[in-house]
Amino acid sequence: MEQMLALEMVRVTEAAALASARFMGRGAKDEADAAATEAMRRTMDEIDFAGRIVIGEGERDEAPMLYIGERVGRTGAERAEVPAVDIAVDPLEGTNLVAHGQAGAITVLAASEAGGLTHAPDTYLEKLCVGPGVAGKVDIRESPTENLGRIAEALGRRINDITVVILERPRHDDLIGEVREAGARIKLIGDGDLSAAISCAVSGTGVHAVMGIGGAPEGVITAAAMRCLGGEIQARFRYRSDEERERGTRMGHGDEDRVYRTEDLAPGEELVFAATGVTAGDLLEGVRFFGGGARTHSLVMAYRTKQVRFVDTVHMFDRDSPPRVRL
Ligand code: FBP
Repeated sequence: MEQMLALEMVRVTEAAALASARFMGRGAKDEADAAATEAMRRTMDEIDFAGRIVIGEGERDEAPMLYIGERVGRTGAERAEVPAVDIAVDPLEGTNLVAHGQAGAITVLAASEAGGLTHAPDTYLEKLCVGPGVAGKVDIRESPTENLGRIAEALGRRINDITVVILERPRHDDLIGEVREAGARIKLIGDGDLSAAISCAVSGTGVHAVMGIGGAPEGVITAAAMRCLGGEIQARFRYRSDEERERGTRMGHGDEDRVYRTEDLAPGEELVFAATGVTAGDLLEGVRFFGGGARTHSLVMAYRTKQVRFVDTVHMFDRDSPPRVRL
């Protein structure tokens, strides 16, 4: 299932990237998100599988499409002969980035056998993400300073040779102060802690860790990517209100001291992760349009078959006068 699904899923993130990239710099984040969501939904319905959205655009009454519990796939219903697949989507991670034409927006999803992705409420997680080589050596319950020391030691570097990505938010003022005090370099980002987390598990990106509080749905998708790449995410739920806490508690996540590890967030054995760049970033090129076509750059990974593919696709829009494909 995994192999077939991986190649189908990259078509889904590609379609969403092509649709939302048209909105780059146009100041219309909701339209960009809607275009990505519609394209994902449409493309998933061309695939012969019985998909179920476990992390999506919201609850049924607040999202017209890709809401939690929605059935996707050509049949839309479970049938014995087609695989049952759970899907976590973030149709456009970095809606503001696209709206302002800034780097790092991606379209992304994770898929697994039924039950392989944790149902997380649309709230926050405190996260600590590291790549292979550092996985298993950090502890989110320790201070950032302690963890930076452990990351540096595991990578055979000094702390001031480590770069940490942190979302630029007032809630991170103390964290930023401590990381600066410890001597590490910081990359502050406006949005997009999911792609930042993947970057720290891919060497050559110059990113070694992600710290701070970001979206819980993004955390689950990050975990699927980290399983495939051998990296690690540790996380704790962080609620913004009593209403959120009650919802989280009903979903079994009431203990805010509990540390969720990569396998807790994405326990599946048949995990697939796919992402396509919308605007250029550390990890992926953005969508490049040209006369009669466009080129996309994607990452697609499968856990059990241990495959990581970077997919460079030329999409020809017009068969009568196709663009010349370039190397
Ligand atoms: P979008 O998918 O809405 O564009 O969110 C992007 C993002 O920056 C995530 O990467 C991050 O986890 C979350 O939003 C942070 O939430 P907030 O903006 O509330 O701090």
